[in-house]
Amino acid sequence: MTEFKPLVFSGVQPTGNLHLGNYLGAIRKFVALQENNDCIYCVVDLHALTAQLVHEDMATQIRSITAAFLAAGIDPKKHIVFNQSQVPQHAELAWIFNCVARIGWMNRMTQFKDKAGKDREQASLGLYAYPSLMAADILVYRATHVPVGEDQKQHLELARDIAMKFNMDFAEKIRPTGLGIDIKVGDEPVHAYFPMVEPLIDGPAPRVMSLKDGTKKMSKSDPSDLSRINLMDDQDAISKKIRKAKTDPDALPSETEGLKGRPEADNLVGIFAALADKSKADVLSEFGGQQFSVFKPALIDLAVEVLAPINAEMRRLMEDPGHIDAVLRDGGERARTRAEKTMNEVRDIIGFVR
Ligand code: TRP
Repeated sequence: MTEFKPLVFSGVQPTGNLHLGNYLGAIRKFVALQENNDCIYCVVDLHALTAQLVHEDMATQIRSITAAFLAAGIDPKKHIVFNQSQVPQHAELAWIFNCVARIGWMNRMTQFKDKAGKDREQASLGLYAYPSLMAADILVYRATHVPVGEDQKQHLELARDIAMKFNMDFAEKIRPTGLGIDIKVGDEPVHAYFPMVEPLIDGPAPRVMSLKDGTKKMSKSDPSDLSRINLMDDQDAISKKIRKAKTDPDALPSETEGLKGRPEADNLVGIFAALADKSKADVLSEFGGQQFSVFKPALIDLAVEVLAPINAEMRRLMEDPGHIDAVLRDGGERARTRAEKTMNEVRDIIGFVR
């Protein structure tokens, strides 16, 4: 029994401003993973067309996610940073996966139901096929580990289902090519060409909630900008938003138990803990018994300390779009080489003439 070579892949859509939740939940994880792994980080611009076709500022959005990756510390020389549309093999493998995935599987995707809303007839075919393209993003590199938020778990399960069906349906064609390896799926031995991807969901990443309503996720689509801290916010904006963040009248508790039923307090303590790389219990042992009038200024200082350098570097990078584009082109070229190798193997397995 062998194993696939570990490879980390993740994608971020170039829609809307990146905020603190994206940073703590995703980008910071990407940075940590690059220490011990081969990583590919992709700005998924093809996915951005699924909900809305025309974007005024598509190029700026792509560059700004890239700038955030670089400013946060992702090394585009050791790893690969690129935008999806530069590697047409993603769309090509997605087509094959469209023929692997079953309509019944797609119909179970809760994100499609949410995003399509009531008028499903008017949703794009691309929105429906979105998870199939996502599976192709990952599997065109035969990546094994995918850092994502909880909301993407179902899409990764679908990627496993697609990989499994491909492996099973083509088993007799994979074997003679020598391209597959023997893995175990549960207790079942499988001769696999595509790996079973693992989500990397847990870790220190907190669920970052709205600053205006501790029961709602911090979101780029919230109409109130005061509800979120954007990565492009400067020091004044960060401090204003935290000062205005919703709280309750009580002092902070000394133990995490005391945060129950206090969503706003819980959220701010969670953000502090994540920014400081501590547990909530540690934060409360420092601030338990204190009022928000004491805690908020401390949170402002910490948020500014962590985010201001990233913010400054993002602004600096955004002033030189030519440099960002060069990084993406270089990443795109290296990604394409790897993806084309997989596609040639897939073409051979299927039996296409080339
Ligand atoms: N669907 C992901 C999101 O909205 C973005 C994404 C596209 C992705 N392709 C991916 C994430 C591949 C991980 C791996 O967050």
